[in-house]
Amino acid sequence: METIFKKDGQPFFVLGGQSHNSSTYSPHDLGVFWQALDTLHANTAEIPVYWEAIEPEEGVFDFRSVDTLFEGARAHKKQLILLWFGTWKNGNMRYVPAWVKQNPQRFPRVTAHDGARLFVLSSHAEENLMADQKAFRALMAHLKEQNTDGTLLAVQVENEAGIAGRSYRDFSPEGWRDAEAPVPDEVLKALEKEPENDLTRRWARRGYPKGQNWEMTFGVKAGTEAMTAWSVARYIDQVAAAGKDVYDIPLYVNVALDGNPWGWNLPGVNYTAGGPIPRLYPLWKAATPHIDLLAPDIYQDSRARYEGVCRTYNRKDNALFVPESGVGQGGNFKNLFYALGAYDAIGYACFGAEDVLTVDGGVRPDSRDLVDSFTCVAAGLPLLTRFRGTGRIHPVVQEEGEDAFFFEGDKYLVKVDMANHNAGNYIHRGLTLGQPEKPRARGLIIEAGPEEFYVLGTGFTVLLAEKDDLFYSEDRVTNHMPYLCIEEGHFDNEGCFVTDRIRTGDECDHGVWVYKENGVVHVTLCP
Ligand code: DGJ
Repeated sequence: METIFKKDGQPFFVLGGQSHNSSTYSPHDLGVFWQALDTLHANTAEIPVYWEAIEPEEGVFDFRSVDTLFEGARAHKKQLILLWFGTWKNGNMRYVPAWVKQNPQRFPRVTAHDGARLFVLSSHAEENLMADQKAFRALMAHLKEQNTDGTLLAVQVENEAGIAGRSYRDFSPEGWRDAEAPVPDEVLKALEKEPENDLTRRWARRGYPKGQNWEMTFGVKAGTEAMTAWSVARYIDQVAAAGKDVYDIPLYVNVALDGNPWGWNLPGVNYTAGGPIPRLYPLWKAATPHIDLLAPDIYQDSRARYEGVCRTYNRKDNALFVPESGVGQGGNFKNLFYALGAYDAIGYACFGAEDVLTVDGGVRPDSRDLVDSFTCVAAGLPLLTRFRGTGRIHPVVQEEGEDAFFFEGDKYLVKVDMANHNAGNYIHRGLTLGQPEKPRARGLIIEAGPEEFYVLGTGFTVLLAEKDDLFYSEDRVTNHMPYLCIEEGHFDNEGCFVTDRIRTGDECDHGVWVYKENGVVHVTLCP
């Protein structure tokens, strides 16, 4: 699917950082945040807008906190994505105004199985929806006035919506009413197109009943969670529709994934119940025509799980956007190259961007790898928008125990050597000599044409051999390679490649190495 992010009408790749949740309240914290984005070479700030801040009294709006975010973004030359912390924030109601929190009779909460009232607004209550819609509509009208220069790219509607606490559904009378209603046809039609989906299989096992309630259609556990998801998704879609009515800007919903390592993967206990998790994807899509994207927050370190999530959300009807990921050690600093290279991501952001900095403004050692990865990606952003969806962006990620791999280009066989790097690097000695170890190889190789490559990343060397050359030898793929030119460079504001340094002679003889300070290496070969 085409990207939803546009700047001056052109596709724009979001390389972003998300602030900590409370940073909008503090000028000091926002200052640290802007600094962190510069350190990351990020081009986009994701920051929350709090319902309690913009509507402190019912019907009385105050948008000063929002205006501050626009001012900051403009001053720091960043694009903005605002996160609407309305009815939901991580499956609870932390950011709703006091006048909502203090009036549970008017604004009903989720009721647990034992009658306990949870700190979560009920999606089954019309009054909650109307109050959120009114606030969101007012916010969007204000954003329309503010966004005359296109600073704002998109809005996230709610945050990790659903029920967190200790229930997978609302046991209130309204919750029962909706649980007993027949499963809507839209849901069944969507599932018919997804035979492998977990809900579809459960429906099949029961003989494809129609016109039955959720439990009878899918079974008790899965059916009830699906009912919650439908209720939450329809609620959000109506909030989104109210906002789009006044300002038509891209809207997305973020996903709190299930399958976390803690607990027993119980909805409402170990993950937020009713959110757009992978098995509920078709249901959510059917419920949310006013939402442009479902966007997974991917903190997973494991390659298999990370790629599984990317696969689920990179579809014909949904582009992959990762609005949150980890900033520390773990897999995120390398996995991001799978998202960009193999799954056509339209944007990628880390959460708690402030955390990459030490108190005196340096890079925290455990965020060094992520900052380096972001630096490498930032150097090649125009390539990501230009070649996205062509199959020409190849990820390089050195997994445990791996030291080389090959892939076939149009004319060249490409060898990616991740064990040796810097072999011919006689020109960056100052940068590389102080490095105690070879960095974990990661980056992207873009095959712009049969005889043209761009390489960015760190810790690997690219070797090329003509596919038709049956007798290529080590010698011929290194110091007899018919290079036209190897240039290190960067892209200017118009997206044109600018050469900063040319590699010839010894610097060509050992292949095309990349190092994080190289920017992008552009390789052309003789026809
Ligand atoms: C996911 C949420 O969406 C964020 O707001 C934040 O709470 C992070 N989790 C913390 O890891």
